[in-house]
Amino acid sequence: MSELDVLWQPIEIGNVTLKNRVWVSAHDAGYSEDNILSDRYVAYLEERAKGGAGTVLPGVQIVHPSGSAAYGNGMDGWRPEVVEQYRKLSDAVHRHGTKVFLQIGHWGAEGDAGQLLDAQHELLAPSGIRSIVSGQEPRTIEANDIEAIIAGYVQTAANAQDGGVDGVEIHAGHGYLICQFLSPLTNQRTDEYGGSVENRCRFMLEVTRAIKERCGADFPIGTRISLDELMDLPGGITADEGEEVVRVLHASGLFSYFSVTGGNSHTVHKWIAPMTSESHANFVPLAARVKKLVDVPVITVGRITEITQAAEIVRRGDADIVAMTRAHIADPEIVSKASSGRVDEIRPCIGVNQGCLRRIARGQMISCTQNPVTGRESQWGAGSVTPAAVPKKVLVVGGGPSGLKSAELAARRGHEVVLIEQADALGGQLRYASRLPHRAEWAIMVRTLERAVARHGVDVRLNTEATVDLIEELGADEIVVATGSRFARTGFTPVRGDRATIPGLEDPLDPLEVIDDPERCGERVLIVDDKGDYVPLGLAEILVTAGHTVEIVSRHFFIGEGTLLTGDLMWAVPRLAAAGVKFTPQTLVEQVDGTEVTLLDMWTFTPRVQEADTVVLCMGKLPTVQLYKDLRLGGRSVHRIGDCVAPRGVDEASYEGEMVGRSV
Ligand SMILES: Cc1cc2nc3c(=O)[nH]c(=O)nc-3n(C[C@H](O)[C@H](O)[C@H](O)COP(=O)(O)O)c2cc1C
Ligand code: SF4
Repeated sequence: MSELDVLWQPIEIGNVTLKNRVWVSAHDAGYSEDNILSDRYVAYLEERAKGGAGTVLPGVQIVHPSGSAAYGNGMDGWRPEVVEQYRKLSDAVHRHGTKVFLQIGHWGAEGDAGQLLDAQHELLAPSGIRSIVSGQEPRTIEANDIEAIIAGYVQTAANAQDGGVDGVEIHAGHGYLICQFLSPLTNQRTDEYGGSVENRCRFMLEVTRAIKERCGADFPIGTRISLDELMDLPGGITADEGEEVVRVLHASGLFSYFSVTGGNSHTVHKWIAPMTSESHANFVPLAARVKKLVDVPVITVGRITEITQAAEIVRRGDADIVAMTRAHIADPEIVSKASSGRVDEIRPCIGVNQGCLRRIARGQMISCTQNPVTGRESQWGAGSVTPAAVPKKVLVVGGGPSGLKSAELAARRGHEVVLIEQADALGGQLRYASRLPHRAEWAIMVRTLERAVARHGVDVRLNTEATVDLIEELGADEIVVATGSRFARTGFTPVRGDRATIPGLEDPLDPLEVIDDPERCGERVLIVDDKGDYVPLGLAEILVTAGHTVEIVSRHFFIGEGTLLTGDLMWAVPRLAAAGVKFTPQTLVEQVDGTEVTLLDMWTFTPRVQEADTVVLCMGKLPTVQLYKDLRLGGRSVHRIGDCVAPRGVDEASYEGEMVGRSV
């Protein structure tokens, strides 16, 4: 008996049998077309079904026009044309023995009234309290609104049933409409829908009863609930109050499962927790509390990234089913790999939230920083890596993420692949990124890529400097240059395109030098940030922890601006502030004179002189491109990928590596 077997036991939700305990909870991937679930979404979820997940849920299906539009445009569920799409989805996942539930919901005050030009609408909320996130002002829900919205829930559930979907999940969490009814923060009604717990549950129970009546007793209805809104301030639902809500809901006998999450729109960084949070399995204690209250299946969630951890949760009895959602965005084959003894081949989600959360928050389709196949399944999905017509010798120069990815794909296609790397280890700048405080999971990405190239027989040569002569000697048919980038040391900023450097700046340090040896810095350190990414935050934490006085100066509106949408900011910035790091946003460095640094307010141009012993520059990177140019001079055909094209992020590196590896 394997320790994982507990996960492969079937379980009943109502009269629906799930083949295993691995669940992919609802997640909007931004794949809607004309605001309904698209073929791309079907292909994406079928890939997870093929990979063995027991149950999959697409993102929330919106039940009424007043609830439309938020992240990534959203998906309407009430419209008749969705039935055909739901049918495609249920057929696709059922082919692999997987079940599909549809989460149905309404954004309430957290929608976006004007996002859809042709469907601009007013927002509706229980007490007309404005959105915590956008500040948009909703109208208070009136009696006839309640009727109309309930009708929308019923229509959406009926559409799901007509489309062959196995059941629906009432979204009662994350601060959206039903959560707004449940929470004293957002429900200040004095009628029968406000006040006591029973009254706050009334709307949800009316919705659920109406669906039961329409869809019948055999059609399972579950719910996803924020047991605790995680506000850390008085007012929101606490776990004790959440238990009261669960008691009332469960007593109705209407719900076939409870999926236990936490948080609301103000606390997204806790329920889609980023790498920097270092939290894993964070909602298991909440699920365990609900387990004690109900006799239907309980689902847990929250950065469960290791299959062994999922098994342990079920074995302990803390939950019956485990959602591994981003884990499946990163690797759709978790179950098939784990159940066939290939746990080492799983690509664990590292919580970096760039390819998934940040993209949806920007209104883009999601992918994955580590797995560029995500979202591109109809082109690159399972079975699409086929042997090359003519096996060749492929030489990859550079062992960062783009080089490693291209080497892996080329080797999987049967090419003979040699990868040369000048450092004594693989991973490129990711190795440094993993040495920043709270960012160790970057090393998991490196380890996963390393294992993949080893598994597919790539000949890796470390400590090997690539020269044109060596490349000639190796005699490859295809050359992939992935030589990366280096941090710029000039102080150039596009806001001062008139000058190449900061006048008077001498011997600044770059981020890698600080990571290697923080003691190269003097007592007072000024970190100059021109990118807004995590690097200056991480360096500041290293330095302040080592006893330095640290100030971050940035031209951005606030410090850590680029880390807001991944949710890292909310973990890192308070920590730095508490440690005494000084934040100076909207400021440029005008000049340096010894230890005197003149700072300039971006908008008033008021100067201020600040003393600093060391200046650290986080001001972009420059491509390492000489080798590429030399090879091209010799007339060779060369592929160039990753940062040596233009220094960007890991997502682009992975994508370009995948693309070239599939095409050489
Ligand atoms: C891109 C993205 C979209 C999401 N959309 C939804 C959604 O529509 N409904 C929902 O209940 N949760 C949504 N979630 C939350 C996930 O279901 C899940 O609770 C969260 O990602 C934490 O689980 P994990 O660590 O296993 O990913 C979304 C998460 C992500 C990353
Ligand atoms: S982008 Fe990062 S957080 Fe999102 S699924 Fe991929 S590895 Fe996980």
